[in-house]
Amino acid sequence: MGKVFVFDHPLIQHKLTYIRDEKTGTKEFRELVDEVATLMAFEITRDLPLQEVSVQTPVATANSKVLAGKKLGLIPILRAGLGMVDGILKLIPAAKVGHVGLYRDPETLKPVEYYVKLPSDIEERELIVIDPMLATGGSANEAINSLKKRGAKQIRLMCLCAAPEGVEAVKEEHPDVDIYLAALDEKLNEKGYIVPGLGDAGDRLYGTK
Ligand code: PRP
Ligand code: URA
Repeated sequence: MGKVFVFDHPLIQHKLTYIRDEKTGTKEFRELVDEVATLMAFEITRDLPLQEVSVQTPVATANSKVLAGKKLGLIPILRAGLGMVDGILKLIPAAKVGHVGLYRDPETLKPVEYYVKLPSDIEERELIVIDPMLATGGSANEAINSLKKRGAKQIRLMCLCAAPEGVEAVKEEHPDVDIYLAALDEKLNEKGYIVPGLGDAGDRLYGTK
């Protein structure tokens, strides 16, 4: 069964509070999402493999470590997932970025796929699917299905806020996928919004609606 990690780093929790605040405007919201994405990238990369190298310092030879060159791929779910990409790339700039375009039908709450463009070697990469919101889990499950259909083997999911319903849905459909969150919230409301959540992430990032 997939594991669920909630990053309780004080900086993540502090910034998430301002992201949630309805008084936070578009510019600040976007900046905060970017910053939290960077902090989450720091946490999610804790288990990246290292290899030993020796390096000559001005004083002596040091036995030291560098990343073992694991290939990573970021897969933002359009459009709100885009808001987290640059923040993650600040720490892992060599990651390739693929895009999965999905929107949630407001009546049925079912995801509708409209765009997929991926790195050609996704089967060799460890992929991180990115979306600020994991509500019913329909969009994340559809994105992960789309990646697996095209050969992806190692997938993680990273979101800011999740509802328990969404976490359970992903765990059930994709037990091989670990989930990384800044917060696990209380529930979904009757319109499929996360409670307390932060509202519509895409609209708040891009100033639409
Ligand atoms: C939001 C959000 C997720 C999805 C979550 O996207 O960014 O992709 O809803 O809901 P779910 O877990 O119930 O599927 P939305 O469909 O509003 O599209 P947008 O990113 O283009 O605003
Ligand atoms: N999508 C969002 O942007 N917010 C929610 O609370 C649920 C789905």
